[in-house]
Amino acid sequence: MASLRGTFFIFPILLATVHSQLLSPHPSFGGSNGNDGKLHLPGITIGNPFAGDVKVNDPGGNPPLETDFKGLWELVSTDSGANAMHINLLPNNKVIMFDATAFHMSTIKLPNGECFPYKTDQGVEKQDCWCHAVEFDIVTAQIRPLKVEWDPWCSSGGLAADGTLVSTGGWLRGSRTVRFMRPCNDDCDWKEFQTALADSRWYATQATLSDGSFILVGGRRSYSYEFVPKPKGNTNPIAIKFPFLDETTDMDENNLYPFVHLSTDGNVFIFANNRSVLLDPKTNKIIREFPVLGGGSRNYPSSGMSALLPIKLYVQNAAVIQAEVIVCGGAKREAYGLSQKGTFIPALQDCNRLQITKPNALWKKEPMPTPRCMGDMLILPTGDLLILNGAKLGTAAWYSADDPNLTPVLYSPDKPRNQRFKELNPTTIPRMYHSASTVLPDGKVLVGGSNPNAGYNFTAKYPTEMRIEKFSPPYLDLSLAISRPEIVVESSEAALAYGQKFSVQFKLVRLFVSKSDVKVAMYAPPFTTHGYSMNQRLLFLGKIDVQQALLPNFHSIELVAPPTSAVAPPGYYLLFVVFRGVPSKGMWVQIK
Ligand SMILES: *[C@@H]1O[C@H](CO)[C@@H](O)[C@H](O)[C@H]1NC(C)=O
Ligand SMILES: *[C@@H]1O[C@H](CO)[C@@H](O)[C@H](O)[C@H]1NC(C)=O
Repeated sequence: MASLRGTFFIFPILLATVHSQLLSPHPSFGGSNGNDGKLHLPGITIGNPFAGDVKVNDPGGNPPLETDFKGLWELVSTDSGANAMHINLLPNNKVIMFDATAFHMSTIKLPNGECFPYKTDQGVEKQDCWCHAVEFDIVTAQIRPLKVEWDPWCSSGGLAADGTLVSTGGWLRGSRTVRFMRPCNDDCDWKEFQTALADSRWYATQATLSDGSFILVGGRRSYSYEFVPKPKGNTNPIAIKFPFLDETTDMDENNLYPFVHLSTDGNVFIFANNRSVLLDPKTNKIIREFPVLGGGSRNYPSSGMSALLPIKLYVQNAAVIQAEVIVCGGAKREAYGLSQKGTFIPALQDCNRLQITKPNALWKKEPMPTPRCMGDMLILPTGDLLILNGAKLGTAAWYSADDPNLTPVLYSPDKPRNQRFKELNPTTIPRMYHSASTVLPDGKVLVGGSNPNAGYNFTAKYPTEMRIEKFSPPYLDLSLAISRPEIVVESSEAALAYGQKFSVQFKLVRLFVSKSDVKVAMYAPPFTTHGYSMNQRLLFLGKIDVQQALLPNFHSIELVAPPTSAVAPPGYYLLFVVFRGVPSKGMWVQIK
């Protein structure tokens, strides 16, 4: 396969070299098989006469191509094996999905008659032979059963710098566990360290820090934080007390699964219930408290959504790189208590933005088209947010919600206020408590799970949902296919260093592509559970220039990698070239 592709690309290089010798006033460049072992397409810089008045370092640019396409749902699997309560895409293009083990059942057994022992609440010794975690192939939809023993029910996770999924906490005997699942070719499984953490982390949040380590914040009755112990297998003696979590809990504990975002300066933004602070994880000091966000509670069980908006980078960045957080939906603080008495009140219907790098910043509120709790909020390669899943009435937890919100909403953060929301085509499958979703390298969104029942129940009003869907956002409109760039992986750089120039080659049926036509995004694939995508991060890179190869439809963009590991923690990212709102397929790059 590799040699075939090689042949294909040598041909255009030779051709382009000949052309460049004929046409260029500087006939010295041409295709090279450079000393980095990669093929490089030749290019010349051609000013774009149609570019207009564009700021030199503007990572935005010409407006997206218009489409009326409202998206498409497809069913890709009827049985995920285990309920997709937690989801993370790995750099080998496999998605790890897992459930609680607490129910001691699923729809598939562990292979080779394998079982593991557990004790019931009454102390009776039993065997669990069911599979509670799977590796899902995003191309074939095949699942490979995995064995997870220490209960990861309502746990947390994130990808380490080497692409290993690090999962932390869970329930009871799994509440102090750290688990590792590396990307592999069908020959690896979870490695678990049952008692690695100092405090129980049930409904805690895991966030990647600038040095690639993980902070674990909160969990039920754990008003503390700690860091995933290093090296692997070590145990934390103590956690660090964090009174902010004690202060923000209430009668329904509306501050679980706090929203934690690494800011561009290495500090950590933590949002719990309706308050938020900026924590310096090195000195353990709270640097700033932000204004209270009114309207209700945003964290579990009220379960709103939050994301860090796309970070915009330039060739030369300002001293402070702006970071802005968005918080949407959730429920009134009394909603969970009422749902336990059978009264489901409407979820919140607002989005709120806060510039966390700006002193004295204030929340800016705007209405969503529909109310939503337990939704997911994913950042698409274009920088738009996709809001999906969840319910319009009630809260998270078993049997606590109704009126599933089937209609995804696209949110375009850079459009003028009141033009930012767009409702898309609805699904037919309710995805409420214990559902999840993730962005795939081809720009589709994988959606799975939902189980508001205490166990697997296929006859309940909202049954345990084993079906997996893919959603194609509007940019996958067939009429835009002609405008979809294709990254030439073989001649693009996959190993990035902070602040260094690098280039990406892409094919696009256009004679000229100007710098203001293209954006290049780097996306860190998140760990999604309970309506929150931990470690989700999208950066638009600083662009130096676009060069047009003389062979038609080949282009090369020269970029600057993110300046620091606070802006982009070390690890794997999907890199997308976006031409006027139409993204390429993502290419995996690694920065360190
Ligand atoms: C913030 O949440 C707490 C706890 O639920 C509540 O007592 C307080 O009134 C809320 N503040 C605002 C401004 O909504
Ligand atoms: C499934 O849910 C239905 C409706 O709530 C209930 O009647 C039934 O007992 C449940 N089945 C199991 C196996 O729990």
